[in-house]
Amino acid sequence: MSDITRRDFVKTTSAVAAVAATTLPSWAIQEKREPVKIGLIGCGGRGTGAANQSLNANEDAVIWALGDAFQDRLTSSASTLKDEKGDRAVVPMERRFVGFNAFQQVIDSGVDMVILTTPPHFRPAHLAAAVKAKKHVFCEKPMAVDGTGVRSVMASAALAKENDTNLMSGFCWRYAPAMRATYDQILGGKIGDVRSIFATYYTTPLWTKPRKESWSDMEWQMRNWVHFDWLGGDHIVEQACHSVDKINWGMNNVTPVSATAVGGREMREGPESGNVYDHFGVVYEYEDGRRAHLHCRQMPFCYNDNNDYITGSNGTCVVNSWTGSPVISGGTDWEYSGEQPNMYQVEHNELHDAIRGNRKTINDGHFMAQSTMMAILGREAAYTGQKVAYNDVLNSTTLLGPTAYKFGELAVPPVPTPGETKLDR
Ligand SMILES: NC(=O)c1ccc[n+]([C@@H]2O[C@H](COP(=O)([O-])OP(=O)(O)OC[C@H]3O[C@@H](n4cnc5c(N)ncnc54)[C@H](O)[C@@H]3O)[C@@H](O)[C@H]2O)c1
Repeated sequence: MSDITRRDFVKTTSAVAAVAATTLPSWAIQEKREPVKIGLIGCGGRGTGAANQSLNANEDAVIWALGDAFQDRLTSSASTLKDEKGDRAVVPMERRFVGFNAFQQVIDSGVDMVILTTPPHFRPAHLAAAVKAKKHVFCEKPMAVDGTGVRSVMASAALAKENDTNLMSGFCWRYAPAMRATYDQILGGKIGDVRSIFATYYTTPLWTKPRKESWSDMEWQMRNWVHFDWLGGDHIVEQACHSVDKINWGMNNVTPVSATAVGGREMREGPESGNVYDHFGVVYEYEDGRRAHLHCRQMPFCYNDNNDYITGSNGTCVVNSWTGSPVISGGTDWEYSGEQPNMYQVEHNELHDAIRGNRKTINDGHFMAQSTMMAILGREAAYTGQKVAYNDVLNSTTLLGPTAYKFGELAVPPVPTPGETKLDR
């Protein structure tokens, strides 16, 4: 059934079910409901969590197919989902796909919706295939690791709009009620005109997986993907992109013109730390002269902080991303005091509502591509040591990583050196 007719079908059956609810026994109503078949592509921690949230969001949803590069990751996710969700998450062996082509096999297996949660390097290709096949998509952040990938994501977002299929991003703070209320206040003028934003993402390093003898270079890098810029984009793109997204939000999604940055690695050492930096400091410049600043750091034994400090002409706002308790001072003081539901769950509730046709089709394409791009812009300014223009990075020919995927030898890319590393490389 085509997506459009399926949406109409869901709408019609929901309406029938609503009328029938007063007159028919529950088994008869359930018979008329069509399951939403979910395909999970990238069965790791976040993917398994997102699949779970999707099942919470929609009692008619089932996990239909699973795809992962590695058998053990797929098996472990399948078993967690089965333990937590029972029959609705039991996927038969013939719809469990392993390897580099697993994403396409999941898409072709008859799913209505896919969850894209591999390392971000693979996202543009997976997203393009899913949108082309008219699937609804939950697409984790970041959406790409280079300008080439972002251009592909922009094209996919445009196609999803044309197809009227849902495209939701994993920029989850955009779905947190406290954040929505706060940014409504900010963009509604509560602190006057936004003059500048300073955001921090200071945290500890993420996990590493010690190399096993049986692993090829490729497998070892993929299993330790957060430590390789070609796979994860470096931590400014992989993790601090949430803060970049909130800068983007506070600036009303206006595109910055350029960025300058510092960055390097002070505390990462050994082969398992790959080629990524452990700190960045970025200044984004806007056409009207405003600046936004981002500091991010992944180091042990240091001060941790994940705040946004927004300065307006008439007050300030501090957004604590970890507690989700924004406070506005100056002019008329304001503090968020509403509910704080799990934002990851809110995302899937809204996505399934849209899939059922109960709300407007979601397309997060513009901000998800731009926030990813801004994070890449900051990284490239630090890697090259130059002042770099947004459009030059977006249009750069750089395509990080190997051009063909196979398990075998793969040299670790060098640690980028400011003053030497080129934008097009
Ligand atoms: N929104 C959030 O707050 C949030 C939180 C955590 C992670 N994430 C994002 O989710 C994504 C996944 O992160 P994670 O923590 O689940 O990592 P993970 O390593 O636990 O999971 C990634 C999975 O993808 C699989 N994989 C790798 N390459 C693949 C390929 N080519 N095809 C199919 N499967 C492949 C891996 O084997 C693994 O099972 C990342 O982009 C990360 O930034 C977002």
